[in-house]
Amino acid sequence: MKKLGILVSGRGSNMQAILEACDSGSLKAKVGLVLSNNADCPALIIAQKYNIATLHLSSKTHPDQQTLDLAMHNALSEHQIEIVIMAGFMKKIGLQTLSAFKGRIINIHPSLLPKFGGKGMYGHRVHEAVIAAGEKESGVTIHLVEGDYDQGQILAQRKIALSDLETSSSLADKILKIEHVLYAETIQKIIDGQITRTLD
Ligand code: GRF
Repeated sequence: MKKLGILVSGRGSNMQAILEACDSGSLKAKVGLVLSNNADCPALIIAQKYNIATLHLSSKTHPDQQTLDLAMHNALSEHQIEIVIMAGFMKKIGLQTLSAFKGRIINIHPSLLPKFGGKGMYGHRVHEAVIAAGEKESGVTIHLVEGDYDQGQILAQRKIALSDLETSSSLADKILKIEHVLYAETIQKIIDGQITRTLD
């Protein structure tokens, strides 16, 4: 069984969907660690209910960025994490962790990247921008993490059509439902070797 580490900052609904998929056996993996930069986030409480090891690492625990990066790398290594799943993690990953887990860190984003991604594009801002631009479709992207926000090889995308009456909150609801299914499915495909990753 592949061991997953999940990085979270907030609500944790994608993390929960992954934990449920592991429990049901539809995702043949085990979550070994949930790591957050936010000690008070709901995601950590959910993870503890599932009896998953949790850890808070942030500039509060490690004011120096390189030491923080090293602590993250060490924690993931000590828990023998093989794939790192970002699920609403709001910080950039440090260079040391990025290089140690090259090709093995993935992120989910609630738009059809490269559209509506990048710094500051998160939460409702994404959906508001999609609607303001008059887009006819939006969707979910899962990609490899290669440093900058929302950059890296696209591993999976799923599209939905916008209705004429779409609002940012109706769009957010639709997209989140897709995320919860697509993330676990894509992780399983990665584990099964069905998705080719560019590793250089
Ligand atoms: C999701 O919309 C995800 O695409 C984005 O952050 C949000 C996290 O939601 N990266 P949750 O914490 O998984 O509920």
